[in-house]
Amino acid sequence: MNIQENISLKEYNTFGIDVNAKRFVSITSVYQLQQLLKEEKNIFLISGGSNMLLTKDIEILVVHIDIKGISIDRENQDSIHLTVNAGENWHEFVLWCVSQNYGGLENLSLIPGNVGTCPIQNIGAYGVEVKDTITKVEAVEIETGKLVSLAAEECQFGYRNSIFKNKAKGKYVLTSVSFQLTKNNHKLNTSYGAIASELTLKGITNPTIKDISNVVIAIRQSKLPDPKKIGNSGSFFKNPVISREHFEKLQKKYPNIPSYVISDAEIKVPAGWLIEQSGFKGKRFGAYGVHEKQALVLVNYGSAKGNEIYELAQKIQYTIKNTFDIDLEIEVNIIK
Ligand code: EPU
Repeated sequence: MNIQENISLKEYNTFGIDVNAKRFVSITSVYQLQQLLKEEKNIFLISGGSNMLLTKDIEILVVHIDIKGISIDRENQDSIHLTVNAGENWHEFVLWCVSQNYGGLENLSLIPGNVGTCPIQNIGAYGVEVKDTITKVEAVEIETGKLVSLAAEECQFGYRNSIFKNKAKGKYVLTSVSFQLTKNNHKLNTSYGAIASELTLKGITNPTIKDISNVVIAIRQSKLPDPKKIGNSGSFFKNPVISREHFEKLQKKYPNIPSYVISDAEIKVPAGWLIEQSGFKGKRFGAYGVHEKQALVLVNYGSAKGNEIYELAQKIQYTIKNTFDIDLEIEVNIIK
């Protein structure tokens, strides 16, 4: 185990924020992690760094989870059970599944980050959430160094939510995720508007999982900035859920307000629309701003400071509250 000193974390977070790690170590096995935890419990975890906004140098030990490997647990004619180690890149894993004709993750193509963090916020896009395919999560308990296993039901998955953002926050290092995927009779999900229209545009009537993955990649590339070119963390805010009564009031004033019905009493409103209506879309303030094609995404054009982006986020929250009486919740972890 090689503990390095004074390492820039710029390459380790998709926002590309340049902060210093006083001490930094990459971990490549569960055993190594357990050994480390015997010595150090006050640690700062980083994996794909795709859901965090760093606003200051990190004084405690930064532990980069880089445990690789995919194993097949069991399979039959129709399905396969896989366990994937936390440090595998998410999109590369999805592409590999598509190439093997393992179905279930194709709608989640091109999401930045690593496999080990996908359960924390229950990543979701284009009508699919990762919880639909997860069977189990393995993690090392920081306090005891014990390897524990949580069945999907125990992870308390919800929209952009899980036990790892609540009761279990800060308690575990996720080390692997197990999935059940289909080998035949894939359950294709083309319900999301843009997927169906893109497929039609391409003249595809009987899509394969590869077609869906390709279409999702094209849609994402057309709307979302590539973190390798423009730093970002995807959706900065969650889509807020408001009461039907509140929604109907807003609808009178804004007849075009988009919405998704959650239940009789609750309606989800896209945060991107609210932010666009408030005039922030495409606004640039020096080295940071709001993405021009998707207002839900805050961006770092190069040398932005985490605090500058956080202040912009708070300004947006304040404006949305004043204009729509809606509390926008930040989805990204702000490291203060
Ligand atoms: N919209 C606007 N202006 C914008 C952005 C969106 O008016 O700048 C409107 C669109 O016209 C559409 C609605 O908002 O009517 C929904 O937009 P979109 O389909 O782009 O999805 P979203 O609700 O903005 C969510 C996820 C994305 C995910 C897409 C597709 C959240 C917080 N975000 O965005 O997730 O890719 O749906 O499923 O739920 C991510 O988490 O990093 C992410 C990109």
